[in-house]
This record gives sequence, structure tokens and C-alpha cells, in this order.
Amino acid sequence: MSSPTSESVIVCSQSGPLSGKVTVPGAKNSVLKLMAATLLADGVYELRNVPDITDVDYMTDLLVALGLDIERIDRYCLRIVNSGRISPVAPFALADRIRASVNVLGPLIGRFGDVQLALPGGDDFGGRPIDMHLSGLEAMGAQFDITEDGVVGRATGRLKGADITFAFPSVGATENILMAAVVADGVTTISNAAREPEIGDLCAMLRSMGAHIDGVGTSTLVIRGVSPASMQSCVHEVVSDRVQAATYIAAVAMCGGDIDVLRAVPGHMEMLLTRYADMGMSILPIDDGLRVSCHQRLSSVDVATLPYPGIATDYKPLLVAMLATADGTGIVTENLYPGRFRYIEELQKLGADISVDGHHAVVRGREHLVGATVVAPDIRAGAALVVAGLAAQGMTEIHDVHHIDRGYDNLVGRLASLGGSINRIG
Ligand code: UD1
Repeated sequence: MSSPTSESVIVCSQSGPLSGKVTVPGAKNSVLKLMAATLLADGVYELRNVPDITDVDYMTDLLVALGLDIERIDRYCLRIVNSGRISPVAPFALADRIRASVNVLGPLIGRFGDVQLALPGGDDFGGRPIDMHLSGLEAMGAQFDITEDGVVGRATGRLKGADITFAFPSVGATENILMAAVVADGVTTISNAAREPEIGDLCAMLRSMGAHIDGVGTSTLVIRGVSPASMQSCVHEVVSDRVQAATYIAAVAMCGGDIDVLRAVPGHMEMLLTRYADMGMSILPIDDGLRVSCHQRLSSVDVATLPYPGIATDYKPLLVAMLATADGTGIVTENLYPGRFRYIEELQKLGADISVDGHHAVVRGREHLVGATVVAPDIRAGAALVVAGLAAQGMTEIHDVHHIDRGYDNLVGRLASLGGSINRIG
């Protein structure tokens, strides 16, 4: 684990009970793909409910380098102009910064038959291959070379519709094949497609642009390609961020209290909400979100991460933090990213009793955590450390806050507005 660096630090002390209302911003894991989709058709786009996070800034830099014109016309709205002057070469230094840079692959090869892209960066959960992205696009007629600098792809003429079956429902590969298939010649069927709500959001935007997609929300997507010239720009509102919603619920779970989480979509997080209820929380749907209460110590449960509609791997650090103060022992199994237990040693600094064995973490709940200095290793684990810090006795300092800023829109301000004792310094 890296040592703290000299940038902003989040400082929190024991808080609760929390109260008030918090509004969930748009989803990082959707907006970055929606931004990439604007490569597919010329025109002026407006994306609304765009979170104010650094991954959006990174994606903006990358897309501007490819030839788009992007302006934040207010805090939550992006205006994107595609005037048709696109260079399909993504500069290494920009593409390397975020995992979602890989999502320009589908639109660029689909529309222009040409792409050069650095191998994508993003959170370090261990190996994050893109073999399914490439083999799916190859089945449609693209050819790829992997060079020292990344991926170089080309296609002669339009890509052709194909039947593609994924060995695993990869989110990124589903999105890339979708974006290439909407402008391919003929019908593409993606079997064992990922079903995350963010994919539904991408399909909704592609349909507004003129794409023909059936099976949205199921694991079989059927895309009838249209000519690239018939696609058009659109106005689209980004779906709510279910992981940010889960974060505010986890804060109540650990600190106690009653809050309304506005714009949370219960239908997008059913399994997680069931798990939260199993632990003893009260979570009720209200007009525009969820009403969440917790007034007693949580009970431990076992949790396994799975592709949607299962419990997302992105929720897991929050669940591990909650189990760290729950009554009993919970076993958490990671089925997506073997390396995604690296934040455990940071939670241990707060006094958590956790042991890791391969894909499993055994979390023995303690009555209290104790404040300490910790380092955020990635976006979601960083947020889990903040939530744990709010529940820990004494003061907790969280360093490497830039990871949290990649995916959380004003986490500190939102938690402070709920009564959390939390500040950002620097
Ligand atoms: C997206 C999310 C990430 C989330 C993940 C799983 C974004 C920007 N990121 O990542 O927050 O944790 O979904 O819900 O939306 N795999 C392969 N070969 C491939 C593609 C994936 O082996 O070609 C493996 C990965 O290594 C991983 C698993 O499949 O073990 C899941 O990956 P995937 O669903 O593709 O996640 P991402 O799109 O990278």
C-alpha cells in the first residue's frame, strides 16, 4: 500500500445519528459511456444529471483530443458538439488514466473503421483484460494488433452484424459491442450480455440517436444496425448512481439515523437492499427515492459479489465496512476481481477484525472502530473508509483523496449536510 501523499485530506470524527436529505447524482459508470457514444453521430448533444467528478474531466480531455467540443454549461450539464472532424487516435497519456477510455473502441472502429488506443487504466484490482471486447469486434470483421503502446484496430468497410456469446457478462465488452453494432451492417446478437442499469441507460441514449436495440434489460441484446449517417444527436439524462446511493445508506447503517436518499432507484439495487434489510436496516421506497433508518447495531450476513442483478463488486467495500461493526461474523466472497481486497489492511488500521483467504474475507464484527490515518486505494474503497471513519471513535484521516474524487460528487459536503463530522483540508 502506498504512503500518504501531500494532497487534500479528508478528516472525520465519530458522527451520528445522521438526518436530512441527500440527492444522488448521475452514475459515473454510465456517463462515461454516454460521452463515448457521442462519437457515433454528428450534432449537438446535451447530457443532463452529469456528476461533477474527475473521471468526467478525464473522459472530456480524451474526447476533446479525438475532436469533440465539450463544455459544462452548468454544474450538472454537458454540451457536446460532434462536428464530424474525429481523429481515431487516442493519446496514450489521456487514455491511460481511466478504465472507461476503452469505451471509445466500439464507436471509433464501428463508425470510422480505425482506432488506436492505449491499454486502459483505472482502478487497480489486478489484471483487467479486454479480450472479450476485441474478440467480439473481430467477429464483426475488425482486426486488432496489440503493440507496446496499446491497441491498433482497423476494418475494411462497415463492420458486419454477428452472433456473439460472452463467456462472462462483461459490462465494458457489452457496451463496446453495442456501440459498434448499432452502426454495423446487419443484425448483431449479444448472448450473455451484461444487464447493469448503466447498460440500459446507454441503450436508451443509443435508441434516442436512432439505434434499433431489442432485449434491453435482458441478457440477450439484438441490435439491427443502421447506416451511420442516419444516427443523430440527442438530449439525455444520466441514470442515478446506485453506488453513491448505497454509500449514503451505508453511512446511516454505520452511524445510525434517518435520511431520505433522493433519486435513488430501488429497482436498480434490489439484492443490495434486501441484504441491508437482512442486516437490520429499514429501507422504504418514497416518491423520489428511499427513506432509510437504522437505530440498532447491524447483524452480520454473508455476501457474494456477482454480475447484475447480483450484488455488485463496487458495493463490496461498503459492505465489508458495515460488517466490521456488525454483530457476528460475515463471510464476503469476491467473484469478479481477485485483487479487490487491497483496502482491507486500511480497515484493519481502524481496528477491523478481517482475515482474507483467496477470494474470501472473514469479517468479525467489533463494537467499535477506532480512528486512524488511512490511504484510499481506489474509488469505492476510499468511500468505504470515509464511511467507516465517520463511525470510528476519535479522528480518522483519509489520504489519496484523488481516488474518491474520480467517482464521488462532493462526498464530503453531502455527508456534512447529513450531520457528519467531516471536513476536507487542502
Ligand atoms: C465496470 C465498472 C466497474 C465495475 C465492473 C463490474 C466502469 C467504468 N467500470 O468495469 O466499476 O466494478 O464493471 O461491475 O463501468 N473481463 C475479462 N475480459 C474482458 C473483459 C472483462 O476477463 O474482455 C473480466 C474482468 O477482468 C473482470 C470481469 O470480467 O474480472 C468484469 O469485468 P467487466 O464487467 O468488463 O468490468 P468493467 O467494464 O471493466
